[in-house]
Amino acid sequence: MNHHRIAVIPGDNSGPEVAAAGLRVLERLQALGYARFTHEIFPWGARHFLETGRAAPENICAILRDFDAIYMGAHGDPAHVPDRIGSQQLMHPIRKGFDLFANVRPVKWYAGTEIPLKHSDPIDVVVVRENTEGEYTATGGRVHQGTADEVAIQASVVSRRGAERIMRYAFELARRRNGKKYVHCVTKSNALSYTMVLWDEVFAHVAADYPDIRTAKSHVDAMSMYVITRPASFDVVVATNLMGDIISDEAACVCGSIGLAASANINPSRHTPALFEPIHGSASDIAGRGIANPIGAILAAGMMLDWLGETKASRAVEAAVAMVLATGRVRTPDLGGHASTADMTDAILDGLPPPPPSGSRQTAGTY
Ligand code: IPM
Ligand code: MG
Repeated sequence: MNHHRIAVIPGDNSGPEVAAAGLRVLERLQALGYARFTHEIFPWGARHFLETGRAAPENICAILRDFDAIYMGAHGDPAHVPDRIGSQQLMHPIRKGFDLFANVRPVKWYAGTEIPLKHSDPIDVVVVRENTEGEYTATGGRVHQGTADEVAIQASVVSRRGAERIMRYAFELARRRNGKKYVHCVTKSNALSYTMVLWDEVFAHVAADYPDIRTAKSHVDAMSMYVITRPASFDVVVATNLMGDIISDEAACVCGSIGLAASANINPSRHTPALFEPIHGSASDIAGRGIANPIGAILAAGMMLDWLGETKASRAVEAAVAMVLATGRVRTPDLGGHASTADMTDAILDGLPPPPPSGSRQTAGTY
């Protein structure tokens, strides 16, 4: 049986609460005989910053390189540490240091989940967010600081190589998902006449290699409207770093709660360990109360299993989550209920089916 080594970064505030829930799921899967895991905890984040002056060690990638995957709760404690610190010293060093250029964010409307807007068709979208450049290259600076003449510049960067690889990933995913076979490109080329025009050109160039996949594109302002008015029409959505960040939060809320959405930060070459985390932040407003919805973190563990080739285990996690949501008996407050993180996790653990007979093959992973 395969044995996977996982680096766990619980993070701050509600992060450790939801990461613990994901770890309970992995432990149960191991007890059921799906796969074997060992994990090591890295207590990085805001507390580490206050104690050591850094949110994570500078050689973070050297420390993490030999793990099979990295599993993160959520980081950030804005009451005590500026929240850019965790991004600069913990999150981005992993995403960029390991060149995890695809931030893959499936957003689904699960039966039994109340949604804030009236929709009847199934919503099942994957936002494919470029994860290493765009608006997040940290290129820029500030001059005349503190004076009335102060200027800040933050460049946004689109490279042909960067755009091409994320778009190819999106098209390949649309093929593998075998759903609507549709890739929708988010742009803003009506206003950003260098970066987003190149982005659109690369999209057209890549699309030509995928005649079986339907395409369309929208400017991000219109897209933010369509995510509300016709979310069920989308399949795979490809966007730059910041636009994908925003659109994925929006889509998750349209499907009931940001607490339900997971993400994978991957480089399909598999030369580096991938990072799995819920898409939500550290939710300092509810931290310590044991009421954070663990499903985003648990589904992130499910995506990690898919990536590790443990597709039977990944399907089992998704099935247990879907069953608990459909039954509707156990709901955390974000879903309109009173259940705790532990109650919800217990219900999901109870819903995990035993593994199918050992002769049956693992299917290919989705991500
Ligand atoms: C996310 C988060 C991060 C991002 C923050 C914490 C820097 O919002 O993973 O979506 O913007 O990438
Ligand atoms: Mg975000």
